[in-house]
Amino acid sequence: MDCFSLSLPLFLLVLSTVSAGAASGINQNGKLGESRPRRDLLDNGLGRTPQMGWNNYNHFPTQLNEELIRQTADAMVSTGLAALGYEYINLDDRWAEQNRDSQGNLVPNATRFPSGIKALADYVHSKGLKIGIYGDAGTLTCAKTMPGSLGYEEQDANTFASWEIDYLKYDNCHNDGIRPQERYGKMSKALLATGRPIFFSLCEWGDANPATWAPSIGNSWRTTGDIKDTWGSMISKADLNDMWASYAGPGGWNDPDMLEVGNGNMTTEEYRCHFSLWSLAKAPLILGCDIRSVDNDTFELVSNKEVIAVNQDVLGIQGKKVNRTGDLEVWSGPLSGNRVAVVLINRGLSTATVTAEWSDIGLNSSVIVDARDLWQHSTTTTIQYQVNATLDSHACKMYVLTPQ
Ligand SMILES: *[C@@H]1O[C@H](CO)[C@@H](O)[C@H](O)[C@H]1NC(C)=O
Ligand SMILES: *[C@@H]1O[C@H](CO)[C@@H](O)[C@H](O)[C@H]1NC(C)=O
Ligand SMILES: *[C@@H]1O[C@H](CO)[C@@H](O)[C@H](O)[C@H]1NC(C)=O
Ligand SMILES: *[C@@H]1O[C@H](CO)[C@@H](O)[C@H](O)[C@H]1NC(C)=O
Ligand SMILES: *[C@@H]1O[C@H](CO)[C@@H](O)[C@H](O)[C@H]1NC(C)=O
Ligand SMILES: *[C@@H]1O[C@H](CO)[C@@H](O)[C@H](O)[C@H]1NC(C)=O
Repeated sequence: MDCFSLSLPLFLLVLSTVSAGAASGINQNGKLGESRPRRDLLDNGLGRTPQMGWNNYNHFPTQLNEELIRQTADAMVSTGLAALGYEYINLDDRWAEQNRDSQGNLVPNATRFPSGIKALADYVHSKGLKIGIYGDAGTLTCAKTMPGSLGYEEQDANTFASWEIDYLKYDNCHNDGIRPQERYGKMSKALLATGRPIFFSLCEWGDANPATWAPSIGNSWRTTGDIKDTWGSMISKADLNDMWASYAGPGGWNDPDMLEVGNGNMTTEEYRCHFSLWSLAKAPLILGCDIRSVDNDTFELVSNKEVIAVNQDVLGIQGKKVNRTGDLEVWSGPLSGNRVAVVLINRGLSTATVTAEWSDIGLNSSVIVDARDLWQHSTTTTIQYQVNATLDSHACKMYVLTPQ
């Protein structure tokens, strides 16, 4: 079946049939991908589109405290980023004391969080935002400064729910070699049993191919190890994540790790590629820079409504790499309304022209489109056969093509 002729209601019917357990095999991605595997989804109602928010780890791996979280929540609202959909304010590792209390409860670090996590959650909620916390499916977290939740899944899930936590990032360190399906499955059930909707973000690093089993357990799953603030790291995460494209969809997403945009060690054009590829790939858009002092270039990138709209499109089909000639690549995926999103990217060291033929991106050669350049905010009408662009090293273009 050609996805570009698939109407939205039919698509939703197909999805709900698949998630109800019927055999799949309908090619929803057209030529852009193989059949979507059967999806047995975690039934918590969350993650219908990829999650958006912020996490301290990429910019503040160790300097976490309640002041930073409050100021970040304030900045999320005052900059206008909250209004664009960035809603989760997430704490990473190091938020707790080394030991549980005498009842076995996790205890917030008294120096970092003197007011406690519940008061912080109340503050974040008062801003119209949601709050996320961090745990580990092992005996100790990765930083080794706080306990993991292995064997304490119900107790910790209940603690998180009592603090009105909205999101859990669940790491994979010190796991005693126990199967991840079991460890992550236990926490998934414990979170569901609290009765509070808590977005479940699996941070299993892609070790045991989580795309193949995590949709029934979590709302997103890491497909890669940790990202670094370098072009090579970023682009390799995009490639690894791409292999699992057919497993993503509303309710459960592939996660190539959080954004480095704005952290300073890539050029603006490299960060533009980073944000374009993450948006096209329906990756979580979790900001990782200091948004209290966000610079203009960074703000222009992460606040681009048209690019965010590709990420949040209701079809929820992960765009893929569809053609490559040496260092020149075409990435593409279908959007609602028979539209097509395209990223042209030059991974090489010298300027070159990158071309997306209609045959690359699943369009019939007779189709005439209007091409919206999402970074230039300009539209070129009546284009047929191909779009192309001459791109500097590590630069990209992003378009939405709308058939006339
Ligand atoms: C608690 O926070 C303080 C202040 O940041 C830090 O020095 C200490 O190491 C933390 N304790 C643990 C167990 O992480
Ligand atoms: C910055 O990027 C360069 C080039 O990719 C890399 O060699 C270097 O290690 C990076 N520095 C940091 C601090 O990440
Ligand atoms: C950043 O943008 C603001 C508002 O658009 C503008 O007033 C300011 O001059 C810009 N700063 C720089 C360094 O370009
Ligand atoms: C990929 O691009 C090359 C060069 O434009 C073209 O020859 C080839 O047919 C394309 N492959 C596909 C699968 O469209
Ligand atoms: C392309 O569109 C034309 C006109 O609608 C149609 O006749 C033709 O069968 C289509 N080709 C393919 C490969 O779908
Ligand atoms: C780029 O596209 C334009 C029209 O869309 C076409 O005229 C031109 O030949 C193309 N350039 C290359 C190098 O393919």
